[in-house]
Amino acid sequence: MIKKIDVKVKYVLMSILLILVVVAAKNNTPAENFKNMDKILQDDNAWKAPEYADKLVNRLKDLAEASKKGKAIFDTQCVICHGTEGKGDGVAGMGLTPRPANLTSKKVQSQSDGAIYWKITTGKPPMASYKGAFSKEQRWQLVTYIRTLGKKESKKN
Ligand code: HEC
Repeated sequence: MIKKIDVKVKYVLMSILLILVVVAAKNNTPAENFKNMDKILQDDNAWKAPEYADKLVNRLKDLAEASKKGKAIFDTQCVICHGTEGKGDGVAGMGLTPRPANLTSKKVQSQSDGAIYWKITTGKPPMASYKGAFSKEQRWQLVTYIRTLGKKESKKN
């Protein structure tokens, strides 16, 4: 008799456990997991400069001479991926993932000079880090030039 009750209790407990498992699984369906995963991956892929970069001061801001020097570097080193006008349409960029950024876009131009400087300095595959290739001054010259690309674009629109 006692044994029989034991079996029944076991049966009831197992059923409750099964229901709990089903409920738990429903609350966290694979589809939802994938959605969350997508979001996490997206956030990971977004290239964000650290906050401290915003505090870096571009002492070459708006200086025509600096922009001219920046353009000279850009035309030899960056155009291949970012295109002659910086729109991200350079010949070597076509097959890259992610595609080279459109430097005239709002997404780029809305960032601080410091953030753009930080990105040129740090790089992110497939874009190289230019810390070793160019001096600080040259990297700021590039930032100053990239700003003029944004201005050209907004005049056209
Ligand atoms: C091999 C191709 C390649 C070359 C050469 C290259 N870039 Fe890039 N660049 C990229 C790619 C790809 C991205 C996008 C990276 C991302 O968003 O993950 C990028 C992104 C950037 C960004 C960040 C844009 C944003 O979304 O915030 C800046 C700024 C930039 N490049 C500047 C330069 C400058 C200046 C040079 C030349 C000194 C240069 N790049 C050379 C491929 C290249």
